Amino acid sequence: MDTLDLINLAREAKNKAYCPYSHFAVGAALLSKQGGAYTGANVENASYGLTLCAERAAIIKAVNAGDLELDTICLSGSGEGYTYPCGACLQVMAEFAPALKVVVTDGQGNYREHRLQELLPWQFQWNVEE
Ligand code: THU
Repeated sequence: MDTLDLINLAREAKNKAYCPYSHFAVGAALLSKQGGAYTGANVENASYGLTLCAERAAIIKAVNAGDLELDTICLSGSGEGYTYPCGACLQVMAEFAPALKVVVTDGQGNYREHRLQELLPWQFQWNVEE
């Protein structure tokens, strides 16, 4: 599965978003090092703070499948501009893959590739020996 395949999966996943409050749909597609693919979309709640982001939905699927070594995550949002992961999702990514490849897309079919360390330098870890 290459980057363009993953982008297509993220775009498709966006159609499953439950976002009646913000009307901003996000789809995520995650590729594991073993080649597993997992998708997620945001799920909002009337109590807004309980909203689950697309990235975390996809990561939780992979982890619950026992597929913990993550390679790349791709995001597709319903806006015109690039959709970047929120800070909470960056921290959840860091838990499993400090060097995860993060691909963000915009509404015109463009994409950018980053590494998690660029987006979240100095990641919080409490149990790592220096
Ligand atoms: N959202 C995500 O799914 N991922 C992010 O990284 C940022 C925000 C969702 C949450 C909410 O349903 C909508 O986008 C607007 O904030």
